[in-house]
Amino acid sequence: MTTITAKINKWNPEPEIISMASEILRSGGLVAFPTETVYGLGADALNVEAVKKIYEAKGRPSDNPLILHLSSYEQAEGLVIMNDVAKKLIKNFWPAPLTLVLNVNPSAKIPLRTRGGLDTVAIRMPDNPVALSLIDAAKTPIAAPSANLSGRPSPTDFQSVFNDMNGKIEMIIDGGETEAGIESTVIDVTNPEKILMLRPGGMPREIIEGVLEKELEIPDALSKKRSPGTRYRHYAPNIPVKIWQYEKNFPVDDVKNCGYLGINDPEIKNLNHKIIFDDVKNYAHGLFSGFRKFETEKISYIVVEWPEDDFGLSEGLRDRILRASSK
Ligand code: TXA
Ligand code: MG
Repeated sequence: MTTITAKINKWNPEPEIISMASEILRSGGLVAFPTETVYGLGADALNVEAVKKIYEAKGRPSDNPLILHLSSYEQAEGLVIMNDVAKKLIKNFWPAPLTLVLNVNPSAKIPLRTRGGLDTVAIRMPDNPVALSLIDAAKTPIAAPSANLSGRPSPTDFQSVFNDMNGKIEMIIDGGETEAGIESTVIDVTNPEKILMLRPGGMPREIIEGVLEKELEIPDALSKKRSPGTRYRHYAPNIPVKIWQYEKNFPVDDVKNCGYLGINDPEIKNLNHKIIFDDVKNYAHGLFSGFRKFETEKISYIVVEWPEDDFGLSEGLRDRILRASSK
């Protein structure tokens, strides 16, 4: 398959590009597009054949459900059973890197394939003008996982999507670098009494808790089964990833062949491949692209700094680092 690529103006998306991309989606094809977190691999969420193609293109396990990307609140109401907690979060935050898991509205025709066989469904409204115009023009919810091959680091720029998806999908829209660099925060709000943090991400925990005036709970082993995506090794480059804690021993002796990502400079002689970030926000923005950059250099290990803060994007970053470094 020939993949069409188109560079778009993020703040003023060209209507011709949006119209071409939405036609592809409406006729059951796949389009990769930018969001504020990472690039998504989109398909019409209500078209089971289109959704199957997402799993094929990514090589993704078919029990891992997809997030439905929406461009209006009314769209959400038809798809899920709303409750006051969800309404409050939507009103305060959307569009935002915040995904809500709710019970599926039985009258909505969301194929089981889209939701991984569950009776719940994940929805979000991305904070990116290209994504919003595309969803609007397609006139259907867009199912979109990150636009990487399954298990690989999520793509945060056009080139990364192109490397993984060229020849496998109909179109890639180049909207420049994504902002957050890690995926949305996913919370389960099916039970307003017990709100579960399923995946930390681009929307910090304390900001959500501030609006809810209560703590998000971590799922126990049983409810963890409800988010199948969290069971797999993820986000991993094809080079081993090791973790370094500031002021502790550096985990690799062969520093010449090592790439380092972090906020603090370990200041070790011959550690030449390194990317030092100003703060946690920049670290999150550059983690996955750093992984992909090091893959193209001749190195044998990647060392990443463990972010210690308990606010902002640190929790999401720790989650991605743990998964990328697990065997
Ligand atoms: O920022 C993001 O969320 C990006 C961009 C493209 O929007 N998308 C993304 O999708 O990260 P994906 O498919 O890579 O991750 C979706 C996560 C998975 O952990 C999945 O298990 C969880 O959301 N999820 C989806 N539907 C669910 C459901 N009904 N119940 C529990 N977890 C669900
Ligand atoms: Mg993903």
